[in-house]
Amino acid sequence: MPTIIEPFRIHAVEPLRITTAEERHAAIAAAGYNLFAVHSDDVLIDLLTDSGTGAMSSEQWAGIQRGNEAYAGSPSWYRFEAAVKALFPFRHVIPTHQGRAAEKILMAVIGGPGRIIPNNTHFDTTRANIEATGAEAVDLVIPEGLDPALEHPFKGNMDLARLDALLRERRADIPAVFVTITNNSGGGQPVSLENLRGVRALCDRHQVPLFLDACRFAENAWFIREREPGQGGREVAEIVREIASLADGMTMSAKKDGLANIGGWLAMHDDALAASCRNLLILTEGFPTYGGLAGRDLDAIAQGLVEVVQHDYLRYRIRSTGYLGDGLHAAGIPTMRPVGGHAVYIDARRMLPHIPPLQYPGQALAVALYEAGGIRSCEIGTVMFGRRPDGSEQPAALDLVRLAIPRRTYTQSHIDYVIEVCAEVAARSADLGGYRITEEPAALRHFTARFEPLQG
Ligand code: F0G
Repeated sequence: MPTIIEPFRIHAVEPLRITTAEERHAAIAAAGYNLFAVHSDDVLIDLLTDSGTGAMSSEQWAGIQRGNEAYAGSPSWYRFEAAVKALFPFRHVIPTHQGRAAEKILMAVIGGPGRIIPNNTHFDTTRANIEATGAEAVDLVIPEGLDPALEHPFKGNMDLARLDALLRERRADIPAVFVTITNNSGGGQPVSLENLRGVRALCDRHQVPLFLDACRFAENAWFIREREPGQGGREVAEIVREIASLADGMTMSAKKDGLANIGGWLAMHDDALAASCRNLLILTEGFPTYGGLAGRDLDAIAQGLVEVVQHDYLRYRIRSTGYLGDGLHAAGIPTMRPVGGHAVYIDARRMLPHIPPLQYPGQALAVALYEAGGIRSCEIGTVMFGRRPDGSEQPAALDLVRLAIPRRTYTQSHIDYVIEVCAEVAARSADLGGYRITEEPAALRHFTARFEPLQG
């Protein structure tokens, strides 16, 4: 059947405020045309991120009530640890308030000047936490992963030949190899089990530990089940355990495939590394049985990890993201193909070829989607990456607009509405104009910059 059945009934509702076009024009102008500065009450469909924005289940809310707030050794901690180890049986599990806190702690221990950390594609916070220690973050995704329109089942795969060459040349400077599943910065594209086994073999040959940035591990495992020869009959939880068995450790944001609104963890087998990380944890996050979290958060995550590997949930999740991507594709809107797990990326540079990259076609499209239908998306392009450390400005490799889908939050009719708004904007795309920046901070300008339309 073409209709996607959400595998849940709605138990509590959060009203949406329907705004008029005039109200949206006023709100976005007051925000300096920056969607991060818009009050979320003025947003109808919020696709800014899939991180921490999902709906929890009734069992997760029950877990919140069960939460125990003992400083040390809370039963919530033991339930959390058991749920993590049921999927990722690493010897040490270290809870953190979110993914970047796990990255910060790990990189503080293994990074430093002269070190290099390869990944398929580092997420921004991972790259920033590596660079903050003076180390270098290197992206080695396969070339197919860089071509937005190309269809390939595992566009998140690591380029094994380039990883091997880097390990041969710089082994002594590489404290760990990372693989991000799914590859968020590369379009939410999955990594195959075969590729992970290949990375493991190289890590074995060169005696380097392998870490997963596992934020969207269940979505990645579902793609393996759907697309990889011989994997179709397996339980997703079993695929996840095989992925874990190939790695020496992981960083995790429970705000994605933990199905929680906050949380994360760091895990590893190595006792000495774990001891160093726990020492840092105590300085900035908290005691090792709660990290940066309340006991109730630990319980919400423990239950989320049970639900996120259920096949009915994952079938719905991946099909509904695909439904949006296929709907935009059918409307002639250029998108990254194939559709990723958590988001659809519109190729704004191709959709608005009359707007030069330094007039921010991605920003122009994101503002137009908000003005037309109250949809909040996120520019991932020249606004985000265009300002170089030397102060110069150059076009980013791509100008994309990400529509990230919060988990279990919007229904098929919400998504039909998003497709209609995008098609309406596409039909008059030749009339959209570019923007200029009127104010920007020295770094991470996309969060706080202010803009002005160049025409109209
Ligand atoms: N790694 C990946 C692959 C991510 O996508 C994110 C967050 C993090 C690490 C950091 O986790 O937010 O819990 O500190 N991604 C969000 C996004 C913010 O919108 O893609 P965090």
